[in-house]
Amino acid sequence: EKGGWDSFMDKEIHEDPAAVQRTLLGRFDEHGDVTLDEVHIDEHDFKAIDKIIVIACGTASYAGQVAKYAIEHWVRIPVEVELAHEFRYRDPILTPRTLVVAISQSGETMDTLMALRHAREQGSKVLAICNTQGASIPRESDAVLYTHAGPEVAVASTKAFVAQITAAYLLGLYLAQVKGAMFRDEIQQVLASLKDMPAKIQWVLDTQPEAIEKAAEQMVDAKSFLFLGRHVGYPVALEGALKLKEIAYTFTEGFAAGELKHGPIALVDEGEPVVFIVPPERGRNVLHAKVISGIEEVKARGAFIIAVAERSDKDVQQYADVVFWRPECPTLMSPLVDVVPLQLFAMDMAKLKGYDVDKPRNLAKSVTVE
Ligand code: F6R
Repeated sequence: EKGGWDSFMDKEIHEDPAAVQRTLLGRFDEHGDVTLDEVHIDEHDFKAIDKIIVIACGTASYAGQVAKYAIEHWVRIPVEVELAHEFRYRDPILTPRTLVVAISQSGETMDTLMALRHAREQGSKVLAICNTQGASIPRESDAVLYTHAGPEVAVASTKAFVAQITAAYLLGLYLAQVKGAMFRDEIQQVLASLKDMPAKIQWVLDTQPEAIEKAAEQMVDAKSFLFLGRHVGYPVALEGALKLKEIAYTFTEGFAAGELKHGPIALVDEGEPVVFIVPPERGRNVLHAKVISGIEEVKARGAFIIAVAERSDKDVQQYADVVFWRPECPTLMSPLVDVVPLQLFAMDMAKLKGYDVDKPRNLAKSVTVE
């Protein structure tokens, strides 16, 4: 059952490292080649793919948005991410060379199922990334890449999210390999950093909960939260905002940090909590500097800053009221760790407010109506 945890959500967040690890298991051989043996789409068909459209809803769509950054960078083909319910009703452009990737934890989400049926009717191949063996979505797809997060019981999706990113990354690496878009040693390097992630997530789970709980106690009466990030930190911000609204019923808004001065900064007032996902300092440090300057701007307006940042990051400490630390990792890997404190934070907030974290009001685990 709950294995000693007081909620399924608690248990499932603590299974984040295992969800990533199990999803990687058996997906590459001893030479470091990606071997998606269970994906039965012809290699020639894969080679011909010139566009990917990810269809999904909610958390699964944010996993798709994260994957877009990685797959476009690795494979050099366009990746669109679309909410399944929007995709289905807008006459999307689909060809036999389009790979539609349907991401769904439950495999029963009606919006996603209808969208995939539409894609197949138009002659595109559909690959499902799914956590539930034999569910409708994988059954109706041309191929399946299962996430091995284990059953997710709490309504709010947590471990499935990190497993979905992992699976989508494997798909991206596989495509890069088949299409010759990356050198073998580059693929091996990415695989090696993926393999490092479960231990890094574990570090967050081992060292950060106290600070997270303290922050939740401090912010429990806040009426609203803003979540900001850039690059892969942007979908992570959206996911952090969704978790908090879903289970703590706090009004949240997530957006790209670059949008601040295009409107949302008007919302920032004395004491407004603003959560920033701070990119790593090394590598893409241009983005790091830009996010730090965003922090400075809202700080100057009296915001209460919560930052998720790399543990070596000295700039953050200067401005943030609270920091949730994460170990160093490449930018593209950072969503796998950055989401973890946000999952814990939402859970702590909901618990402090006395809500049932596993069964939030008005929500069902899988939405089987359109
Ligand atoms: C968020 C959440 C929902 C689901 C969405 C898709 O915590 O649970 O947003 O992610 O309904 O569900 P699946 O992945 O089952 O298709």
